[in-house]
Amino acid sequence: MATETTPKVWADGPYQLITADKSRPEPDGTQSAAKFMAAEMTIVHNCILRGVNAIYNQAVNVANKGTKKDKLDFVNFTAQWGDMIHEHHGMEESTLFPQIEQMTGVPGLMAANVHEHEQFHSGLSALNAYLDKVKGEAEELDGVKVRELVDAFMPVLRDHLDNEIDTLLGLAEYEDKHDWKKWFENISAGIIKAVFSDSTLRNDIFPLTLVLHDKKFEQGVFKTFPPMPWVLHVAVRWLFMNTRKDWWRFAPCDFYSMPKELPFV
Ligand SMILES: [Fe+2]
Repeated sequence: MATETTPKVWADGPYQLITADKSRPEPDGTQSAAKFMAAEMTIVHNCILRGVNAIYNQAVNVANKGTKKDKLDFVNFTAQWGDMIHEHHGMEESTLFPQIEQMTGVPGLMAANVHEHEQFHSGLSALNAYLDKVKGEAEELDGVKVRELVDAFMPVLRDHLDNEIDTLLGLAEYEDKHDWKKWFENISAGIIKAVFSDSTLRNDIFPLTLVLHDKKFEQGVFKTFPPMPWVLHVAVRWLFMNTRKDWWRFAPCDFYSMPKELPFV
């Protein structure tokens, strides 16, 4: 485990987080547009990875030592993590990737990434189907089974999360064609706006993102995420973070995106 405040097993493994080395700004503070986009994507992908690691590292103890409520909350936390992936990939396939292909003028430029999405869908669906059975009390929560279901698709998903960063860095080739940074900032602003108008995004997916983000990661390289005014941070914490607070206790970070111990390791 990696931080001085959390000496026990945490959420930085077994599925390795993606380093900021490829995308961080230059020593003089400048950052190419391609690196800026890659950095923003690295943040979200690391949220996905911390989420699965938190699930993986707590599944057995929740199943063996948790109360009925602990188990149900953990299942909901895990299901919500799956929904977050669907939401992220849906946004990429409907908005981000088609616009990149249009802006570069290269049809099919992002096709490999879409193909990679398809590679782990059935494994993720199998995990969801199992979680539904546990929620419906057709099956008992079995931590080893959760781990097996995760291991069945996660290596492919981990590779995909890494490969997509390289795809975005490759957009450096088209850097002169558009103001990519501005375009990406607009996409991010659109997502933040949607958070406040969609109840699933504001109560479930966005709060989960905040408790899976680690502001201390690699000396705080991503500490300014998410990109929104402080007053909105306060609003999210006061109005929306508590809706599912019993689920978020299994997360590796608190409502301020600061690392904390996992309760069931
Ligand atoms: Fe992505």
